[in-house]
Amino acid sequence: MARPKVYITREIPRAGIDLLRQAADVEVNTEDRPVTREELFERIADCQGVIGLLTERIDAAFFDAAPGLKGYANYAVGFDNIDVPEATRRKLPVSNTPDVLTNATAECAWALLLAVARRVVESDAVMRSGDWPGWGPMQFIGGDVSGKTLGIVGAGRIGTAMARMSRGFDMPVLYTSSSGRRNAVLDAELNARLVPFEELLEQSDFISLHTPLTPSTRHLFGAEAFRRMKRTAYLVNTARGPVIDEQALLAALRAGEIAGAGLDVYEHEPALTPGLAELTNVVLLPHIGSGTASARTDMSVLAARNLLAMLEGKKPETCLNPEIYD
Ligand code: DGY
Repeated sequence: MARPKVYITREIPRAGIDLLRQAADVEVNTEDRPVTREELFERIADCQGVIGLLTERIDAAFFDAAPGLKGYANYAVGFDNIDVPEATRRKLPVSNTPDVLTNATAECAWALLLAVARRVVESDAVMRSGDWPGWGPMQFIGGDVSGKTLGIVGAGRIGTAMARMSRGFDMPVLYTSSSGRRNAVLDAELNARLVPFEELLEQSDFISLHTPLTPSTRHLFGAEAFRRMKRTAYLVNTARGPVIDEQALLAALRAGEIAGAGLDVYEHEPALTPGLAELTNVVLLPHIGSGTASARTDMSVLAARNLLAMLEGKKPETCLNPEIYD
């Protein structure tokens, strides 16, 4: 029987590619840039499987371009780039990569939280400039972390890990839940409180976003949310950029409505809202939440295992539309 053909839209860690190559002919886009829509459609025309990234839109036109497709594996836990209902309508399985990047992403959120509160990037710049005059009692005064209230928006896997990591800082934890369901781990281990969104905004000293991007979370943080937050509060986003209205964030940061923000994701990636990079009370990372060697390797292996299962007509481990197998 002919080996299936697989296309991978960008170089990913070898472990997953090697695994796939045991059973399939694999082509990888080795250029260090996202494929264009035209290139993608051309490459996948005779493919049975595709591994893609959050930079690819997986929609009806994508599925039409690959008539022999047996499944699509996302190399990401977030899947707002996939039209899952459309895949389901076509009885095509699609998968993502949860769990394997949970700690890496939560650690990145902590890096942002600490960096923005303690003005790490500004301080580093002064040292590099050669202009540091020596220790001064009024230099780079930042915000306290220990004992402050941490608000988690989206207490799923990564939000839970973020909250658990706060134990060393003795932080009271508040969280919201779109389903209204309590998080048993957070309740039992941290005595956390499930609160309405408005209360979380008003009470938190740090707010960390871990919610998926959906129509109801798009621009969840806009002018009204920033007005409700404490003027001394910091916002951290390692989820998806469009959860924040970046123009409103820019205005809030300029007006001192909040103390600062640590961002790993952006509303219009890879573009940055003009003005944001000029502010000193923001720390900006290039979407590296899952960027540790082990998380990225595990993502590649999980995506490969998912795709191999789909090629064999089996349900992948982390399937986004398992109902197609009912
Ligand atoms: C994800 O997995 O959704 C991240 O944004 C990329 O690793």
